[in-house]
Amino acid sequence: MPLIIFNGSPRGKNSNTTLLMDQFIAGYTHGNDNQAQVHYLIHTKDADKNMELFQDAENVILAFPLYTDAMPGIVKHFIEALQPLCGRSGNPRLGFVVQSGFPEPHHCRFVEAYLQKLAKRLGCEYLGTIVKGGVEGIQMMPPNMTRKLFKTFYDLGVFFAKYNAFSSELLRELTPRENMSWLRRTIFRILNLTGLTNFYWNMHLKKNNAWDKRFDRPFA
Ligand SMILES: Cc1cc2nc3c(=O)[nH]c(=O)nc-3n(C[C@H](O)[C@H](O)[C@H](O)COP(=O)(O)O)c2cc1C
Repeated sequence: MPLIIFNGSPRGKNSNTTLLMDQFIAGYTHGNDNQAQVHYLIHTKDADKNMELFQDAENVILAFPLYTDAMPGIVKHFIEALQPLCGRSGNPRLGFVVQSGFPEPHHCRFVEAYLQKLAKRLGCEYLGTIVKGGVEGIQMMPPNMTRKLFKTFYDLGVFFAKYNAFSSELLRELTPRENMSWLRRTIFRILNLTGLTNFYWNMHLKKNNAWDKRFDRPFA
């Protein structure tokens, strides 16, 4: 039975989530008959179809980017639609991948705790959560900057194929420390004074015609 992966990035196929999960799948399917099916939540909003896929699977991985310290709306929508399956016997084993823009894994720990509870409420065996910070920008990085990251996701896939679990050693490799070091924080503060830390985000605001709206408070 194929491993079912739900990709919860609103960027769909062109996402960082895809780049990481492609590596995971390459490791998972290397040298064996394993198969993995990826379903992009941005395209498969049919809640009944998703629920069917979910309940028929043996192993499910839900992978998504951290959005405002939680998950994108399409992921929340997907999760809420699983409510009828709560406590049903025969639910799949369930694991998660959460990757974020900020470098510190600390940002993802709250949603990780939520996901663990979610698996319990659904009555799914919890396989764990792969957490990785500092992922925004990997699409623009040269290969030598992403090699190690991609190799670790590949190795996580190889390990998952063998043991149906996430390797705790590899998880530690992805998150060697919870917060930025004193040195990195200091460098960041200095860069902040130059305005360089905002450059990337400002570029996106302008590209998306949102620059003039950046201080809007629609709910105020
Ligand atoms: C609307 C929005 C909200 C975000 N919120 C957070 C956040 O709270 N913390 C964080 O570390 N990164 C945040 N990010 C950055 C994404 O998690 C990061 O860019 C991720 O790699 C995007 O993955 P994707 O390409 O798979 O969608 C946010 C990005 C967007 C677009």
